Amino acid sequence: MIVLGIETSCDETAASVVQDGHILLSNVVASSMDLHKVYGGVVPEIAARSHIESIIPVIDEAVSSVGWGSIDAIAVTYGAGLGGSLLVGVMTARTLAIAKNKPLYAVNHVHGHVAANFLTSTNLPNYKLPEKQPDFPLLALIVSGGHTQLVFFESMFSYTILGRTRDDAIGEAFDKVAKIVGLPYPGGPSITAAAKMGDANKYPLPKSKLDNKYEFSFSGLKTAVLRVAQEEIGEDFTFPSKNISERLSERQKADIAASFQRVAIETVVDKTVTAFEEFQPKSIVIAGGVAANSELRRQLTERLPFSPIYTDIKLCTDNGAMIATLGCFMVTENQPTADPYSLDIAPNLTM
Ligand code: KG4
Ligand code: ZN
Repeated sequence: MIVLGIETSCDETAASVVQDGHILLSNVVASSMDLHKVYGGVVPEIAARSHIESIIPVIDEAVSSVGWGSIDAIAVTYGAGLGGSLLVGVMTARTLAIAKNKPLYAVNHVHGHVAANFLTSTNLPNYKLPEKQPDFPLLALIVSGGHTQLVFFESMFSYTILGRTRDDAIGEAFDKVAKIVGLPYPGGPSITAAAKMGDANKYPLPKSKLDNKYEFSFSGLKTAVLRVAQEEIGEDFTFPSKNISERLSERQKADIAASFQRVAIETVVDKTVTAFEEFQPKSIVIAGGVAANSELRRQLTERLPFSPIYTDIKLCTDNGAMIATLGCFMVTENQPTADPYSLDIAPNLTM
């Protein structure tokens, strides 16, 4: 069973070929991140144009190692994501499914992030994959730029959402805080780098308290960071956030980054530990771009009785391998195929 996965939901044009839901045969990612950096975030129009330029060469490279004859099915992200970006992937996958006469599978991007943890072997260089696949029931902490949620999976296609964020996603909070303190986009890696030099206990930032113990909220934390930064430069709450960073010292930036990262990560770790105690899953996975965060991995390893499954950092941020892997599971578990003549995008899709 060999599946081609295509992913274009945000700023990464990605394609990958996966065998039997666990062997990574190819993984190609072309990112337009550098084009967005000057704007401090992803510009949807630029992302969509870049996908158009990159999609065919990226798919060609991903398929070249196995050849079209070996591909059994095509899986594509149809949501959630940016409309223009999703369209490029979906229209390309539909066309290829018709032209190459392959079944087409429509994949939920967020669910795909979880599936990335099921890849256990590859001949590609520089991948550090888990030794075995996670067992069900499985607890997944999904932490990305667009989503923050805890999901309990009885099996790959039978799951319960325990809670999600009411406002910002955790990755979005990293990106917004980075902008306030003048660190480059994407905020996750640059906050982590700055935090290494900072004092994580310098500022007592608040953790959100919500009625539902598995719900998340990050907008209050982001506003608290803004107030701290304004106070540090001797201004009140009316001072514009875009003018703060030039007046912060490197020391202050590092302390804010470290304090924010500690509280944001503690928030998701607290809830993951609570869910682990209540539901007693056989395994735990973390998924999405923020799963690359070293502080998250450190805190989870320290506080859980067994180590969660951590996959390669390249498979945490957006990639085609996670889509191809979930595509393999869709084939083997008899999930419905999509109509290549009518599959539509679903920008606001949830799990
Ligand atoms: O999963 P992803 O690539 O795209 C979405 O589906 O949203 O996640 C991107 C997010 C961005 O907000 C980025 O700042 C964050 O993941 N991120 C990180 C790290 N690497 C990426 N956040 C914290 N620590 C990191 N090392
Ligand atoms: Zn993602």
